[in-house]
Amino acid sequence: MYDFSEKQKKALALLKNGGLKRLNIFEGSVRSGKTYISMIMWGIWVAGSPKEKSYLMAGKTLTTLKRNVLEPMAELFGKSFTYSVTKKEARLFGRRIYLEGAANAGAEGKIRGMTLRGAYCDELSLFGEDFFTMLLSRLSEEGAKLFATTNPDTPSHWLKRDYLDKEMPDLLSLRFTLEDNPHLPEDYVKALKTEFSGVFYDRFILGMWVAAEGRVYDAFSDSCIISADELAECLTENRLMTSVVGVDYGGNGSASVFCHVGYDVGFKNVYVLSEHYDARNRSAESLISAFAEYIAREKEQRPTLCAAYCDSAEQLLVKSFRSAVRLDVRNALKRPINTRINMTNRLIASGRIHISDECPHLIEALHSAVWDERDIHHDTRLDNGTTNIDSLDAFEYALERYEKELFRF
Ligand SMILES: Nc1ncnc2c1ncn2[C@@H]1O[C@H](COP(=O)(O)OP(=O)(O)OP(=O)(O)O)[C@@H](O)[C@H]1O
Ligand SMILES: [Mg+2]
Repeated sequence: MYDFSEKQKKALALLKNGGLKRLNIFEGSVRSGKTYISMIMWGIWVAGSPKEKSYLMAGKTLTTLKRNVLEPMAELFGKSFTYSVTKKEARLFGRRIYLEGAANAGAEGKIRGMTLRGAYCDELSLFGEDFFTMLLSRLSEEGAKLFATTNPDTPSHWLKRDYLDKEMPDLLSLRFTLEDNPHLPEDYVKALKTEFSGVFYDRFILGMWVAAEGRVYDAFSDSCIISADELAECLTENRLMTSVVGVDYGGNGSASVFCHVGYDVGFKNVYVLSEHYDARNRSAESLISAFAEYIAREKEQRPTLCAAYCDSAEQLLVKSFRSAVRLDVRNALKRPINTRINMTNRLIASGRIHISDECPHLIEALHSAVWDERDIHHDTRLDNGTTNIDSLDAFEYALERYEKELFRF
């Protein structure tokens, strides 16, 4: 009933021939079959481990753990696996399993008192090092094992530097690439490959641990820019379905930006329709009236405009904006910057983003954004006043909530 890839079969064989180590890390490309095979191995291993011992499964948050692992495991193991996220507990072949979100406040404290026979970690590179160190100290028993999956990150990431690179005798790393998952349709793999570029291609497609250097949006080029005529033509072919404005307020030394972003039917394409950019920031009053004028003008041109998402740092301004216009004005989600960058880069790489040439500030910002090379431990977009981050923020506030609609995977 199972149809494993060669790589997956090799991994499975380790269970039988005693080839597993104390720490077993499944790393590599996206969709490469790591989670699938690691869940099966974890299940088999737990089923053969002492009943009275405790086990743990952890994800970055309980929500991602549920989506990535608990739900698929319930499908794989049927009645042998049950879980309750609210109780933070599961049962796998009669063994008790604690569930934990590594990024949740105090998570490290929660596992401090535990003695664990086994642990499963989903997306380990997204955990804090402290949580992982604590977890390892809890897995001290003879025969205890850890199973973890991860995508690659920057080479100076704690997981790479302090574990994978250390040639530790009790660590086994299993590397997977897209080719190791024969269950992906060819077209799907092709589409996936076009969605990533630069450092993200190297990491998520090739499965390499590489640093982010140079331009953040390295595939951004003039082909993403369209004239007013071209925009009008595109929009007669592909009708706009909805559009929203992102707002970033200028503080000291930064600009106030409004950015109107539209989506066509089925969320196939993203259109940046117009921008308002003001570096002077004279007063709150002038900003409010500029916003009211901008919204009135945009609404007249594009009746699709349905909401504005504003930097939530300035609640007074959000309130004033709300009373100045007849539009749904809300706080921006402010998702992690790298999540937003990823979304933008995927759209660029697959030719799905079209920016009106009437948005010179956003265009310049996408051209010039660079990674901060002094921060070698993280992917950090340089934000020291030399590049225009304000336009990027405003654009991203209008984009970030549509991840599910824009990407199938
Ligand atoms: N042997 C298999 N038989 C059937 N389906 C499989 C098999 N291996 C993998 N898949 C399916 O392929 C898809 C990708 O696999 P999986 O989720 O394990 O990838 P992953 O390496 O964990 O990816 P990511 O890094 O994106 O989390 C899933 O839908 C999974 O169910
Ligand atoms: Mg996975």
